[in-house]
Amino acid sequence: LKKVAIVETSATIANFGPGFDTFGLCLDKPRDVIELEMVNQKGIRIELPEEGYRIPTSPLKNTASIAAKEILKMAGKGSNSIGLKMTIIKGIRPGSGLGSSAASAVGGALATATLLGIKDKKKILLAAAKGEGVSSGAAHLDNVSPCLFGGFTVVLDHERLDVLRLKPPQMKIVICLPEIYVETAKARQLIPKDVPLKTSIAHSSWASGIIQGIKTNDLKLMARCLRDEIAVPPRKQLIRGFDNAREAAITAGALSFSISGSGPAVYSLAVKNHKRIGESIVESFSRIGVKSDYFIAKPGMGAKVKKIE
Ligand code: HSE
Repeated sequence: LKKVAIVETSATIANFGPGFDTFGLCLDKPRDVIELEMVNQKGIRIELPEEGYRIPTSPLKNTASIAAKEILKMAGKGSNSIGLKMTIIKGIRPGSGLGSSAASAVGGALATATLLGIKDKKKILLAAAKGEGVSSGAAHLDNVSPCLFGGFTVVLDHERLDVLRLKPPQMKIVICLPEIYVETAKARQLIPKDVPLKTSIAHSSWASGIIQGIKTNDLKLMARCLRDEIAVPPRKQLIRGFDNAREAAITAGALSFSISGSGPAVYSLAVKNHKRIGESIVESFSRIGVKSDYFIAKPGMGAKVKKIE
């Protein structure tokens, strides 16, 4: 058995337009670092260094330790049979819509699996999904999949953990994070239980267009299909200034504007003027008194084991 594993995981954009609970894109940043050390004191202990966002340190509430426990269970070990100290440097803001809880869960699962010599990615995915399920109220895979595998992922079957992996085009995405906090579990309660046939048809069309856009490196086609009539309409009310921000982004040259995951992060695809688009969104939020920050990200490669000792 190994003694120390350090892994890095990154932010993800779930839903990606029409793919509610289905599509996900891994980003190159922001990132979390999870260091896992085998120690003598039995059980799992979580430590947060000064650097990084605050998250629960109770092993029962933290998605990283819940996922770690799942891996231990799969290996036939009780969570008190060994001692693990987990240090999490949280670079992804919790409650941002950028897959923060999924990044912790994937990090916890991958680090533990690495120490135990478990390589099966499906096991790691399942453990991470369980961790994610505790925090969001439903074990949806659209953040954990791209977070683990990188690139663009399509969850084909949640029960079977059947995930399609696609290589996204090289592109730059403008992401703006307002100082608003959205709890995924609450945002999920806003989603309608049924959708009209018309909406379902439109979503099939757009989802097909997104995949074709990815396959042919056609950013404009992707942006044209980056639409959502299921999750965005009820959720945009949680993001004060959403409509104005969208208008500011489009006026500045953005090709699309949507909510990342359950929000409040919003993002745009664009061929050029990324900086101008980011500044325009921030300015639009600030006009109504909402502070925000923007950054420009690219597709990311997924969770990485940085060190094993
Ligand atoms: N697909 C999930 C949702 C992602 O939109 O609720 C949560 O980040």
